[in-house]
Amino acid sequence: MFEPSLAVQRIVANSERPSRRPGPGVISLGSGDPDFETPEYIRQALVDAVAAGYTHYSDGQGDPELRAALAAIASQQAGSVITPEQVLVTHGGSAALTGAIVGVVNPGERVLIPEPTYSLYADLTRMIGADPVFIPQTVDFHLDLDAIEAEAAKGAKLLVLCHPCNPTGVIYRDDELQALGRMAQKHDFFVLADEAYDHIVFGGHPFTSTLAIEELRSRLIYCQTFSKTYAMTGWRIGYLVAPGPVTSAAARIHRTLIGPMNSALQRAALAAVTISSDWPERMRVEYEARRELVMELMADVPGVSIRPPDGAFYAFIRYEGNTPPTEVVSAALDSGVAIRGGTEYGPTGAGYVRVAFATDRKNLTEGLLRLRSVLAVVTS
Ligand SMILES: Cc1ncc(COP(=O)(O)O)c(C=O)c1O
Repeated sequence: MFEPSLAVQRIVANSERPSRRPGPGVISLGSGDPDFETPEYIRQALVDAVAAGYTHYSDGQGDPELRAALAAIASQQAGSVITPEQVLVTHGGSAALTGAIVGVVNPGERVLIPEPTYSLYADLTRMIGADPVFIPQTVDFHLDLDAIEAEAAKGAKLLVLCHPCNPTGVIYRDDELQALGRMAQKHDFFVLADEAYDHIVFGGHPFTSTLAIEELRSRLIYCQTFSKTYAMTGWRIGYLVAPGPVTSAAARIHRTLIGPMNSALQRAALAAVTISSDWPERMRVEYEARRELVMELMADVPGVSIRPPDGAFYAFIRYEGNTPPTEVVSAALDSGVAIRGGTEYGPTGAGYVRVAFATDRKNLTEGLLRLRSVLAVVTS
């Protein structure tokens, strides 16, 4: 009888990440896959690249021109020079996270995870036999710096931060990030900052990239993806920026696991970041309208509350009562709407479900009406 490896077993035993997409007739408010098509100029760049012969193996660390463009963008954000050698182009943001975690952390070492947060971080940590240390965030889902300090003092290799945060929508303040940087220096750990949603910020809320936080600079592993900003989830391209030796370590893992990236795809990504376009902003404006719709449609459900997200395209919905989120998810699916349970994102997610507003307003409205009925029963 076949038994999957312990790595697989550790993930399966602990992860609530769904492995299947919802069936027909179900409105999906579960997945963070933008409903927008990838902008035309990026699609055309792929066609052009294939025609121009970008059909061979590419540089193992990523197309040099793309890395140069990404280094220039990162340098601008940081206000200091970041070189192309510090950039690794990856198979989506997911492989940037994988390269970073597997390249830096050893089995048995501790990875600090302020939660609720994106669930892949804990899965990857467990996959390699390291220990995720969940640290509940404050009531408004900001960093509990005292709790982080207490855990860091016991020893930690890495802390993982999602900024803006999926699922809470929180954007961390500069003073929190600066304090975190000082702590990372004091207790000698790295900070992996996943900024997948950095272009999706609402209401003019201030957002500072971790790249610009001087206190973090020497210990920062910055992970980014084209998936959300450019509606490119299916293309599978992202990148990381880190101190040179860390980038080399992540590159070795990425090369071992995946090999070089698709050549033509990287030329399309180069077009995405070098051709000026209002598409990312147009999509952001639409997400902002959808955010208002979610807040409006869920406002008067008794026993239900939402902290308006500052960024990303998720509403983390709190409901009263003791029903586990997995049961709410299942009841919602029976009513024709796919959502995600709060505990997928960490223990503090008990009493929450997550709704993605990455689908059009008509579907979103119908999905939320279905969810309202479910939550009315759950909280009664
Ligand atoms: C915070 C965060 N990071 C990374 C990813 C993965 O991105 P990609 O699709 O580029 O692998 C996601 C996808 O939902 C995400 O929400």
